Amino acid sequence: MSRGLTSQAARNIFYGGTVFFILLFAVLIFNTEQRIPARSNAAEITPAVVRGKHLWETRNCIGCHTLLGEGAYFAPELGNVYPRRGGDFIKAWMKAQPTGAPGRRQMPQFHLNDQQLDDLVEFLKWTSKVDTEKWPPNIQG
Ligand code: HEC
Repeated sequence: MSRGLTSQAARNIFYGGTVFFILLFAVLIFNTEQRIPARSNAAEITPAVVRGKHLWETRNCIGCHTLLGEGAYFAPELGNVYPRRGGDFIKAWMKAQPTGAPGRRQMPQFHLNDQQLDDLVEFLKWTSKVDTEKWPPNIQG
């Protein structure tokens, strides 16, 4: 009497398992794709948010900051900066750079006008509402 797996049984487990997990993967991809519009509040992407995102990209904010965890670790996470600081602070902050405060890392002056500052705030406000499954775990990021 043979004991353990026959080579045919091993092959069936291999092919069956492969097919099963490929299908499971496809279902999970489909499920994720379906949920993206709701989780990202796609309906709230106004023209101002789009303009703000364009500023974010062209001024290379991500070269120093992270946004929802993506980016560089030179400067604070900004995915939560809107609820943490508010729009007025963000605009005042942008205008006040560089602070020249000794011992602190400096941020450049971007010379954004009032419309651009409003757009940037709209973008950061929208970003803060993306459903990230409660990440970061606390408001300080
Ligand atoms: C050269 C690096 C650099 C770039 C590029 C940069 N920042 Fe900053 N930013 C910093 C640093 C450093 C700080 C923290 C300074 C401090 O705490 O004194 C900061 C802080 C901030 C804060 C305050 C964060 C808080 O938690 O209070 C905001 C808002 C901000 N940056 C927005 C932006 C935006 C928007 C852009 C792009 C237009 C940008 N930054 C580009 C370096 C940068």
